Amino acid sequence: MATTVSSLRVDFEPKDSSLKSANINLTGAPLNLLKLFGLRPTSVPVPPLPEGVRVVTIAEYKQAAACLAEAFAEDEVVRYPVDTPDRAHWTEQEKWDLHVEILEYVTYAHILKGLVTTVGDFEAVALWMPPGTNMDDYLTMFKSGMWRLNYRLSAEGKRRFYNEFLPLLHDTKHGTLGARDADSWYLVYIGTSLRGRGKGNASKLIRHVTSQADKDGVPVYLESSNEKNPPIYRRFGFETVRTVYLHRAEKNVELDIMVREPVRVEKK
Ligand SMILES: CC(C)(COP(=O)(O)OP(=O)(O)OC[C@H]1O[C@@H](n2cnc3c(N)ncnc32)[C@H](O)[C@@H]1OP(=O)(O)O)[C@@H](O)C(=O)NCCC(=O)NCCS
Repeated sequence: MATTVSSLRVDFEPKDSSLKSANINLTGAPLNLLKLFGLRPTSVPVPPLPEGVRVVTIAEYKQAAACLAEAFAEDEVVRYPVDTPDRAHWTEQEKWDLHVEILEYVTYAHILKGLVTTVGDFEAVALWMPPGTNMDDYLTMFKSGMWRLNYRLSAEGKRRFYNEFLPLLHDTKHGTLGARDADSWYLVYIGTSLRGRGKGNASKLIRHVTSQADKDGVPVYLESSNEKNPPIYRRFGFETVRTVYLHRAEKNVELDIMVREPVRVEKK
């Protein structure tokens, strides 16, 4: 179980000299246990951190997930595997608990295999997959607790999540970016708590990575799950390249696929 892992050292080694190396000590699980389950340190490039932005550690995954749970409380895409007809008998509290639980697993997996950043006291949180990384492997599913969704989601929830949502996201990203798929940053989730909104928190987290993407000349990819957001993302240089749909709910759920092409950085 993810929460039992409380001692882990993660070394972020830079791929090139422009990236900062961050050694993060996390407190908790015995080393032999980590070895047994293959919990090796993950190497992830961390772009230089601007003031106020920091990397979220394993010990903080619940706080980071709580911020995302609040931000996405009514998001049709995030709630897609939770708000199913075969869970109509569940109370709102039961559904909320599952919503939070899913975001805890996802956040944990991204701390292990990707990059999770925050500002302030978890006022905003971003989950990133840097170029060349993914969290699709069984080991990460196991370590993060994602495997528990097999038991926590309803039959319809599983069909939505495993048979529709994950393949759609995977195939759309690959189909959109093609050969550049492995050489792009992926903004998986960004959410600002209600109290943190309109203060430039999401901007800080987005620009932290887009400035590195510009230096490296690589695209940044995201799926926007809310029609309010594309105008916000356009301010950062993202453009909608296509729209895809989830079909299993009463009405189709729309996802805008947005790509930000790198802006040429003048060499000094
Ligand atoms: C979208 C979201 C992350 C923005 O977070 P935020 O911290 O309030 O954003 P910022 O204060 O950094 O603002 C970013 C830019 O968007 C603009 N903006 C923010 N909220 C806006 C709104 N409701 N309407 C129009 N523009 C908005 C800001 O003016 C700013 O642009 P500027 O720098 O040119 O002034 C936040 O509203 C949120 O968490 N929404 C729910 C979750 C979600 O939909 N996440 C995105 C998933 S695709």
